[in-house]
Amino acid sequence: GKVRAPTHIISTISDDRGDEPCYAGVPMSSIIEQGYGVGDVISLLWFKRSLPRYCTKFIEICIMLCADHGPCVSGAHNTIVTARAGKDLVSSLVSGLLTIGPRFGGAIDDAARYFKDACDRNLTPYEFVEGMKKKGIRVPGIGHRIKSRDNRDKRVELLQKFARSNFPSVKYMEYAVTVETYTLSKANNLVLNVDGAIGSLFLDLLAGSGMFTKQEIDEIVQIGYLNGLFVLARSIGLIGHTFDQKRLKQPLYRHPWEDVLYTK
Ligand code: ACO
Ligand code: LMR
Repeated sequence: GKVRAPTHIISTISDDRGDEPCYAGVPMSSIIEQGYGVGDVISLLWFKRSLPRYCTKFIEICIMLCADHGPCVSGAHNTIVTARAGKDLVSSLVSGLLTIGPRFGGAIDDAARYFKDACDRNLTPYEFVEGMKKKGIRVPGIGHRIKSRDNRDKRVELLQKFARSNFPSVKYMEYAVTVETYTLSKANNLVLNVDGAIGSLFLDLLAGSGMFTKQEIDEIVQIGYLNGLFVLARSIGLIGHTFDQKRLKQPLYRHPWEDVLYTK
């Protein structure tokens, strides 16, 4: 009989051995012929299943809305400085990507984790926020450097609008909004930010689509899939910033002395 040598790698998302590559079992020709979009490809490669159109559209909206937020944010700044130091595209891109984390763009998974836990345990916003404060943890998904009660983040409004008219339930997002109402009573800039909006709405997408078991949802939240949306999206902008600096032939960046407080 045949003896199967043990493999060094197990892989379950794509297969390139046949006539045509398959993503989660779906051949490339079907992906093209059926007019799949990038949201469908993400569903297949990340979640290993085809999701309903409103879900893949939501994923695409997240990617489009998070693609860039100007040259001043941490990621773009790093990318611009790196490109101006004469580095190549990949170096400039990853130098920007490396800033994505708990404060900038990478709070989506933690927002989903904490909002899910608090909502599932029926904590009031007061209990949740004050509990976090006692533990010395800033609420992920809340707060913004330039957005505030009177200068809301349009991206958050657009995501909420889409979900309210397309999702079967927006329970977690509504919970996040009650948290925002409470945090806004403490300070003007403690709005629900784009990470918090995506984190809470993705919980609604996972729970409401009927495509995931409770255990799978816990696993997705536990592993931390959702920051991937921001990483993927912002790569588009960071690549754009790299090309922009090179096209503009910008010289080596040196930060001005006047902008540094030299002190002992
Ligand atoms: N939860 C509770 N309290 C907060 C929060 C929060 N998320 N954010 C700010 N505060 C309060 C705290 O009392 C803070 O004081 P501390 O430094 O003693 O903790 C006080 O506000 C002052 O904060 P600011 O200096 O005004 O906040 P800053 O502008 O420096 O931070 C930031 C903005 C980093 C987004 C912050 O609000 C935060 O850490 N939020 C959680 C992480 C997050 O969601 N990041 C994603 C942002 S969206 C994006 O990057 C795409
Ligand atoms: C972003 O999308 O980069 C931000 O929301 C962060 C910022 O400070 O604008």
